[in-house]
Amino acid sequence: MLRIKNVQHFNGNIEVNDSWNFPESKELLMHKIHAYPAKFPAFLTPKIVSYLKENRAQINSIGDIFCGCGTSALESKLLGIDYLGYDINPVATLIAKAKSNVYSTKKIKELYEEIIKECNNGKFLTPNKILFHERIRYWFNEDNIVKLYRLQKGIYNVCPDGKYRVLFLTAFSNILKACSKWLTKSIKPQVDPNKIPLDPYLAFKRQIRFIIEANEEIKCIQPKNSIIKVKTQNILNIKPRKNKVDLVITSPPYVTSYEYADLHQLSTLWLGFVDDYKELRKGTIGSEYAKAEHETFLINNETSQTIVKELFKVDKGKSKSVTKYFYDLDKTVDKTYSLLNENGYAAFVIGNTSYKGVYIDNAKVLIESFMNKGFKNIEVTKRKISSKILTPYRDKTGKFSNNKKGEKVYSHEFIIIAKKPSR
Ligand SMILES: C[S@@+](CC[C@H](N)C(=O)[O-])C[C@H]1O[C@@H](n2cnc3c(N)ncnc32)[C@H](O)[C@@H]1O
Repeated sequence: MLRIKNVQHFNGNIEVNDSWNFPESKELLMHKIHAYPAKFPAFLTPKIVSYLKENRAQINSIGDIFCGCGTSALESKLLGIDYLGYDINPVATLIAKAKSNVYSTKKIKELYEEIIKECNNGKFLTPNKILFHERIRYWFNEDNIVKLYRLQKGIYNVCPDGKYRVLFLTAFSNILKACSKWLTKSIKPQVDPNKIPLDPYLAFKRQIRFIIEANEEIKCIQPKNSIIKVKTQNILNIKPRKNKVDLVITSPPYVTSYEYADLHQLSTLWLGFVDDYKELRKGTIGSEYAKAEHETFLINNETSQTIVKELFKVDKGKSKSVTKYFYDLDKTVDKTYSLLNENGYAAFVIGNTSYKGVYIDNAKVLIESFMNKGFKNIEVTKRKISSKILTPYRDKTGKFSNNKKGEKVYSHEFIIIAKKPSR
């Protein structure tokens, strides 16, 4: 790790540290029970904890302010460390909750049989408003709408409120894209007119089989007892807490790359989190729709001001979104500080990018924010990204895309570790 004393001397050209490049192929199946964009590799949590412990840090609790689908939640559970995760996206927190529990395989099988029995007896045929929701009709054919409706009703009827219901809803959520007209693997909401959607009963059966296998794998590891809490909340609105954590490990959203609300619209609609998925764009950091005038950019962060000014010359709209992103990122550093115990650590994983020739040095912006906030012992390392990002290209608008004609973006990312000093 490279110790940073002066942010002006930092640039992204530091050497890659091979010890932070691990293949992701060995990840536990439980990490894969639901697709989620921009997950970080699972090994990072145990690796950062052991790195800090080697340096005599006490890590008895972990927080993740952008917990996404709960990669750090599951890894904290395996380490036997208490955990507090936040994410604004209710689909993310549903998955994170599902992943951080251990289940009785016998009970999963029994509940599954019950749900299918309920579906087959046909008593849920009565259409309700969801059957008529315009967006649902846009994405699904009539036959699949009825089957999905029955499956969902079955889950609610058979599983009482609690961890098994969360698990089955997660399975349900993960089959939605395959059962719809959504272009396979696309990170843009796009209809594939030639697609033959999967049968929901078949997809659900396979998904439950996969979950059972994942659960059996976890049971062999016998995770120690720890308290895992996951909350659906905008991190920018959290109030100071009495119970703080020793380590915040997180990866912030990328700038104007993924629209999480749009990407998860099938799940949010079916699970009834909102009537209009666009509602969930509000507050999401890095959303293209969040803009701020760069003239009113009040944060004291020279690196971000320079980037925003450069962007303004090539794309005014983009410079406003990036302005808002940097503004929010800076607030995130404040929130991290207030969530940490004295002598606690923040570990942020972030990638740099470029847009229309302007280098967007997110790592440097973050390091400057850490310094301004009073964090000490700031260290940084660079790692290669392996298969984490399925979509290493940006299209003309700056969004991630699978299209190889686009501009290639992230091949590396940075891990920045900083200490909150004692008073
Ligand atoms: C890069 S992803 C994190 C992925 C996570 N490390 C994982 O392995 O799944 C960034 C996350 O930030 C969340 N997010 C964006 N704006 C937020 C906000 N204002 N408050 C809390 N979470 C937010 C997104 O919903 C997304 O899940």
